[in-house]
Amino acid sequence: MAKLALLGGSPVRGKAFPKWPIWGKEDIDSLVEVVRSGKWGTRGPKVEEFERRFAQYCDSKYCVSLTSGTTALYLALWAGGVEPGDEVIVPPYTFIATANAAAMLGAVPVFADIDLDTGCLDPLSVEALITPRTKAVIPVHLAGEPADMDAFALLKEKYGVIVVEDCAHAHGSEWKGRRVGSLGDIGAFSFQESKNLSSGEGGALTTNDEELYEYAFSVHHVGRKRVGGQWYEHWMLGANMRMTEFQAGILLSQMGKLEEEFKRREENALYLDTLLSEIEGIIPQKRDHRVTKRAYHLYVFRYIKEAFEGVSREVFIRALNAEGIPCSAGYGLLSEEPIYREGNFGPFSKLLKGEKFVREPLANARILAEESVWLFQSTLLGNKEDIEDIAEAVRKIKDNIDDLKTFSSRR
Ligand SMILES: Cc1ncc(COP(=O)(O)O)c(C=O)c1O
Repeated sequence: MAKLALLGGSPVRGKAFPKWPIWGKEDIDSLVEVVRSGKWGTRGPKVEEFERRFAQYCDSKYCVSLTSGTTALYLALWAGGVEPGDEVIVPPYTFIATANAAAMLGAVPVFADIDLDTGCLDPLSVEALITPRTKAVIPVHLAGEPADMDAFALLKEKYGVIVVEDCAHAHGSEWKGRRVGSLGDIGAFSFQESKNLSSGEGGALTTNDEELYEYAFSVHHVGRKRVGGQWYEHWMLGANMRMTEFQAGILLSQMGKLEEEFKRREENALYLDTLLSEIEGIIPQKRDHRVTKRAYHLYVFRYIKEAFEGVSREVFIRALNAEGIPCSAGYGLLSEEPIYREGNFGPFSKLLKGEKFVREPLANARILAEESVWLFQSTLLGNKEDIEDIAEAVRKIKDNIDDLKTFSSRR
């Protein structure tokens, strides 16, 4: 039996997985074109073309390009009418921006639990937390897996809440044949460096609602009207949230390979699901049967330590890393971050003081925070043999679990 690399043996893999971002001549040409155009700011031809193409990509009528995904969530709530003191229901297993977008408007983020199988916001937990103050809900399409958008449409109908999809992980995912970003009232996307479509930093909001679009457009454009207004005419409160021509230029060139990469990740992830499901104690994130296409920003599985002689997730991850498989523990529980425990909300601290952000146990989110292992999206861009290496490394750890247990107990 081959010795574990962590204990001095040879690793399963000696070569690296594909690096991210992947770029080519078309990206350089696009950026050079922007440099030469002398139009480096915003609202130029690249930004406008990107907004048109991205709206179409997301089955949406409208898109506003922005500086980041955080800005997209913030603007979505702002344009959706969220006011100080309102409540916004969010999952606790997500990046901090999902909850902070509410707090940045003086609204109260309220944490609901997630579904243990998919990792996405649980509509039943959300419904139990709805109060007369609830203004919006933000389902996150975790790792690319769409949340149950049928259930959120029903909650919208029943309670009149605004549904903002956090699509930061899910460019191109489909729920019953329709792309995310077009399923709720507003979609919020990130193009931060690690994302499946990236411009280093960047974001976008999508919607099918014309009124919401015009409002969001004005807010992101320092309160100017989209059509008919003058340069020095600011009819409402707004800020500069605009994407530059450079960002739009690189997004347009990167979009050229988005579909091909999407397909490769999805194919590899489904293959990895079959390989890992055979290993007792490894539970891959579940795909809902209504999901027709799935982006993979991450590949998430649960590591059940009881099936691995009680060896901790942290030691398992170290062993997997040593075998040449990059992976991490991912998110903790957002509701337990110092900001939410201590209420450090800057100018909104007084307003939000005394509010309860956690109103139920969040048992499933805690399990995922404690048991998840994440592989990164570029790991899924290799070939079939690369994927087999991942499963082989996990199997090797399982076969050598007694040695790893001894190593772990001596630390
Ligand atoms: C789930 C989720 N929401 C929102 C964001 C915020 O995006 P950005 O980093 O572009 O502000 C991220 C980004 O990391 C994210 O992962």
